Amino acid sequence: MAAVGKLYLAVVVVVLASISSLVSADPEMLQDVCVADLASGVKVNGFACKPTFNASDFFFDGLAKPGLTNNTLGSKVTAANVEKVPGLNTLGVSLSRIDYAPGGLNPPHTHPRATEMVYVLFGELDVGFITTANVLVSKSIKMGDTFVFPRGLVHFQKNNGMVPAAVIAAFNSQLPGTQSIATTLFAASPPVPDNVLTKAFQVGTKEVEKIKSRLAPK
Ligand SMILES: *[C@@H]1O[C@H](CO)[C@@H](O)[C@H](O)[C@H]1NC(C)=O
Ligand SMILES: *[C@@H]1O[C@H](CO)[C@@H](O)[C@H](O)[C@H]1NC(C)=O
Repeated sequence: MAAVGKLYLAVVVVVLASISSLVSADPEMLQDVCVADLASGVKVNGFACKPTFNASDFFFDGLAKPGLTNNTLGSKVTAANVEKVPGLNTLGVSLSRIDYAPGGLNPPHTHPRATEMVYVLFGELDVGFITTANVLVSKSIKMGDTFVFPRGLVHFQKNNGMVPAAVIAAFNSQLPGTQSIATTLFAASPPVPDNVLTKAFQVGTKEVEKIKSRLAPK
């Protein structure tokens, strides 16, 4: 019985360990801290560690104020990732603040390296993600609500309200990465060939060129 119990325990431990390594988006750390040396040319999985650090490497006040939303989309993502907070290197987490003007859209995009969970600071948003089975999972969320966007899935947030909205977004990666679908396809450099996009979207070259010109970096 004791042997069976121990075997059972060992199996549970192994299963839990493999689950935790599966759900941890960034690799496990091997030391207390590895404050990113953003200036180092050393290429590793993440950033090389600085030899010295202090509290300012773990601090960022950039999420305190609303981001400017007076742009074409009416939204602004302010990231607090390893590029802004070097102390996050190897820790597997980061935050963003996203501000939305009335009517503002954070357009369909994916984070290849992280699941995202948003918490609504104020306002109301219509949010959604699309599964690999092409099912839209969407909901209206308001102040105090949270919503999850699973790792890698295309998702968006739209402020259909009359007042500004904002969320804090949490990620299980120090640098989740963002691919915005429209700009990835229509504003890449060098450009994705027109004949790839005309066939993919079943439209003519004129339509593709029009979207490309609208999305060209200004
Ligand atoms: C941390 O060190 C930097 C120089 O490396 C210095 O400019 C900064 O004032 C220090 N910050 C704190 C909180 O000690
Ligand atoms: C957005 O507003 C800021 C401050 O009000 C201003 O400096 C900036 O030029 C504006 N940007 C655009 C694209 O209108």
